[in-house]
Amino acid sequence: MFAILLTVLCLVSVSRSAPLACEKLVKPLEQFDIQNVTGRWSLVAVSLEDRAHENIVRRKDSIVVDIRNSSYIEAERVAGRCQYDLLDFTLEGHILTMKAGNVNLTGTLFYTSCADCMVLTMHIKSPTYRTVEFYLLSRRRQKLEGPECLCCFSVSVPFVPFSMSHCMSPSACEKLLHPLEQLDFHHLEGSWALVAGSVSDPAHLESLKSRDSARIIFAGNSDASKISFTRVFSSDDSCQYMHSNITLQGSGFTFEQFNITVTALNTSCSDCAVMRFDKSKQVQRLYLFSRRREVGQTEMEEFKAQAACLNITAPFAMDPSKELCPEKISGNPAEGQNA
Ligand SMILES: *[C@@H]1O[C@H](CO)[C@@H](O)[C@H](O)[C@H]1NC(C)=O
Ligand SMILES: *[C@@H]1O[C@H](CO)[C@@H](O)[C@H](O)[C@H]1NC(C)=O
Ligand SMILES: *[C@@H]1O[C@H](CO)[C@@H](O)[C@H](O)[C@H]1NC(C)=O
Ligand SMILES: *[C@@H]1O[C@H](CO)[C@@H](O)[C@H](O)[C@H]1NC(C)=O
Ligand SMILES: *[C@@H]1O[C@H](CO)[C@@H](O)[C@H](O)[C@H]1NC(C)=O
Ligand SMILES: *[C@@H]1O[C@H](CO)[C@@H](O)[C@H](O)[C@H]1NC(C)=O
Ligand SMILES: *[C@@H]1O[C@H](CO)[C@@H](O)[C@H](O)[C@H]1NC(C)=O
Repeated sequence: MFAILLTVLCLVSVSRSAPLACEKLVKPLEQFDIQNVTGRWSLVAVSLEDRAHENIVRRKDSIVVDIRNSSYIEAERVAGRCQYDLLDFTLEGHILTMKAGNVNLTGTLFYTSCADCMVLTMHIKSPTYRTVEFYLLSRRRQKLEGPECLCCFSVSVPFVPFSMSHCMSPSACEKLLHPLEQLDFHHLEGSWALVAGSVSDPAHLESLKSRDSARIIFAGNSDASKISFTRVFSSDDSCQYMHSNITLQGSGFTFEQFNITVTALNTSCSDCAVMRFDKSKQVQRLYLFSRRREVGQTEMEEFKAQAACLNITAPFAMDPSKELCPEKISGNPAEGQNA
């Protein structure tokens, strides 16, 4: 049905200018091969049925998309800031369906003459609104050669090309997984509550779920190479404390004895720390810590997208109403005084 819609647009365009070309140029992906669409895409152009929405789209500097497993991750740059969206999709044949609240999105993928591009038509339906949008996505980050890529695309509906420099922007996942340049002790110092965690091995999710709460504490003195790192877990009304000495290096630190490297990722949440734990260079866990016990919805969305980019489980959110253990083991004043 959506194929027909696009074909009709093409025919209109055929009769107008570029004869014959369009039918060959745009054809639906009969066999939807997930491998063909997995990975990063830059949005090169959009065509919108809804002219009001066009102005919103024009304000965006760039839109990049990452398709992973069953996640559609989008990063939009608006007025110098990045906003992230994560949608889970399902595939039936070559139809991709997604849901965002009470909005249903149905996408159909088309091949184009441009070998590393695809056209995605998106039918958007909410209880009160329906529209269709066309996206031209490319793997490339430089200028697309020739006008054929846009053929059949800018016909009867408004058309917004993104400047080619924007096509060069990094993918959504590259942005989301960007390590902090320099992990600063003064930013880290003190206690952080675990807000949510995501793991590579679903079996490890059980140990996370079995905990009522968790916090980490960074403490130190003038020597940045000797920082005390304490993990505190609460489960079944008891508290467990694990101490390590760490040295900050670049965007993270290493637990030599376990061969675990911790890397802090960039986040738009200013009182959060997102930390990725890798063992022997394989991601194992991703944690969202905050000075607060819970974060806002957009902040959680960003964390979900970060986990999806790493292709690990969806985050498990800790219960913010469960008490945190004290920062120090009670009944041990000596340690309390010194640390
Ligand atoms: C899809 O992927 C296969 C191999 O994975 C490749 O041979 C083929 O050219 C791709 N098709 C498109 C349209 O990208
Ligand atoms: C993500 O992980 C699943 C297994 O959990 C695997 O089947 C899939 O191929 C992976 N996808 C990517 C894009 O790495
Ligand atoms: C969205 O899809 C669900 C089924 O997945 C359906 O029940 C609902 O009515 C749809 N909503 C709209 C606005 O079409
Ligand atoms: C950390 O360093 C302190 C002081 O150097 C030392 O007393 C303590 O035993 C060390 N802790 C661990 C877990 O290595
Ligand atoms: C890190 O995140 C901040 C806030 O979202 C953003 O302004 C900055 O450009 C990001 N840096 C990188 C290297 O992605
Ligand atoms: C740590 O990981 C590296 C990289 O995978 C590996 O070469 C090294 O042998 C590991 N060391 C230990 C102590 O496991
Ligand atoms: C990948 O997608 C499949 C199917 O939707 C899902 O069962 C699986 O948990 C996903 N893997 C990851 C690592 O998210």
